[in-house]
Amino acid sequence: MTGPIDAVRAIHNAFRQDMRLIDAAALDAARGKPGLTETVERFRFFNEVLEWHAHGEELAMFPALEAVAPSVAEAYEKDHRALDAAFEALNNAVSVRDPLETARATKAFKYFLDVHLDKEDTHLYRLIGERVSVPDQGQAVGLMASTVPHDRFPELVAWMFPLMGHDDRENMTRIWQKVMPPEAFAGATQLVAASIPDGWSELTRRIPELATAG
Ligand SMILES: [Fe+2]
Repeated sequence: MTGPIDAVRAIHNAFRQDMRLIDAAALDAARGKPGLTETVERFRFFNEVLEWHAHGEELAMFPALEAVAPSVAEAYEKDHRALDAAFEALNNAVSVRDPLETARATKAFKYFLDVHLDKEDTHLYRLIGERVSVPDQGQAVGLMASTVPHDRFPELVAWMFPLMGHDDRENMTRIWQKVMPPEAFAGATQLVAASIPDGWSELTRRIPELATAG
């Protein structure tokens, strides 16, 4: 059954997938393949979303965990600052147009991101799933969502849904259906439909009530 923290796991998978694309493009560009600038440049929006996400975790999830498992979240907050440093290094390498240093920076960023997200999924969110009540998890996910600036929500949807697999798309949509007011959910649904022209029919097969909304 879909629980509120499946929304977090779904966005973690979108981060993994985007970083895979960015890192592969940076490596190919360093080897001299042309035309990859646009893919490497994805790191800018990627990092904006990562910052909203990390801020949301620190605001909502980590305090909820602190109450039931003291002193665990501190290490994850340190990881977030290390991710900030990985972004700085990548941003610097791109600014000076150094393809080799850019590829080294995306590799380091990807390696640490993957380790961090795996720890969060299998340790931090396992503890939250076991020790925080489902309504409190839902409230924390709602508070996390509030860290996305309203006017950037369409960009977030257009970035996230194409990166996610069918199960994550379904989980995210079902969670939104539960937590959003109906008119906001209808708007979100239209953004989702526009973001995944090839995947929309599968999503409506899984959640038939969407068919009338898109
Ligand atoms: Fe995190």
